Amino acid sequence: MNNEFDFSGKVALVTGAGRGIGKGIALRLAKMGADIAVNDLISETADRTVEEIRNMGRKAAAFPGDVSKSEIIDAMVDEILQKFNHIDILVNNAGISLYRPILDCSEEDWDRHVDIMAKGTFLLMRKVAPHMIAQKWGRIVNLGSYVAQFNCTTKYFAPYCAAKFAIIGLTQVAAQEWAPYVTVNAVGPGDVETEMMELEWQQEGARRGITAAEVKEEYRKRLILERLQTPDDIAKAVAFLCSPLADQITGSHLIVSGGLPYHV
Ligand SMILES: NC(=O)c1ccc[n+]([C@@H]2O[C@H](COP(=O)([O-])OP(=O)(O)OC[C@H]3O[C@@H](n4cnc5c(N)ncnc54)[C@H](O)[C@@H]3O)[C@@H](O)[C@H]2O)c1
Repeated sequence: MNNEFDFSGKVALVTGAGRGIGKGIALRLAKMGADIAVNDLISETADRTVEEIRNMGRKAAAFPGDVSKSEIIDAMVDEILQKFNHIDILVNNAGISLYRPILDCSEEDWDRHVDIMAKGTFLLMRKVAPHMIAQKWGRIVNLGSYVAQFNCTTKYFAPYCAAKFAIIGLTQVAAQEWAPYVTVNAVGPGDVETEMMELEWQQEGARRGITAAEVKEEYRKRLILERLQTPDDIAKAVAFLCSPLADQITGSHLIVSGGLPYHV
């Protein structure tokens, strides 16, 4: 029987893979046989992910850099292609978040979110897609969020939500432009236990006069499946979308939220 989840011979570029969900995705794809180009803004954390992947017997290299800068992206992708010869899977994961009411948001808050997430995803897809189209195979997965759905139910994350909706729009347009060889999908996490979420719980707790642990427990209780997600929960959905089982899925936004109810 063919192993539908064998990614041997494939090369994946994962952005923001120094920690959290990106690291989880890099490790899972490596576990399933892929070689990994590890990007992160912070080179030390990227190096640590590379080391873990090499210990699994896969090839990996760190490509530190800011995904919001086109000159950095272009040089990085050229370097990856020189080192690995091809890129088969691109996961646009790098991101930031901020718990802040719209009236307190600065222009810089807006620009940082849109630049790192929406523009970063655009720049990377624009640079990598021509190679995927030329080799007649490619899988792109962008990190969306449960907040970027038809009825956004989240307060205090305006620049974040706007950037995530932009990513979903980009995903849908790119899926049409690069069919049939390249599929472009998004995965939308709910509440994943990462440093990003820890900070959000602290910020919300400070605003409401309760502890971060109490906020976290509230978040957990609203989930149908009763537990917060791990980075690997998200990574499994990414792996599925890159596998032959998902050959006919493109332009989708797969929500992995533990069954977060619609109204929260
Ligand atoms: N944690 C959650 O519950 C959750 C929910 C929905 C969506 N997401 C999305 O998942 C992705 C990962 O989130 P996480 O929770 O792992 O966050 P995290 O903060 O733990 O990790 C994000 C990583 O991205 C890197 N990064 C930030 N800016 C960068 C840049 N300009 N260039 C390159 N790398 C950069 C950081 O250094 C860090 O290693 C983000 O896109 C986030 O919006 C997370």
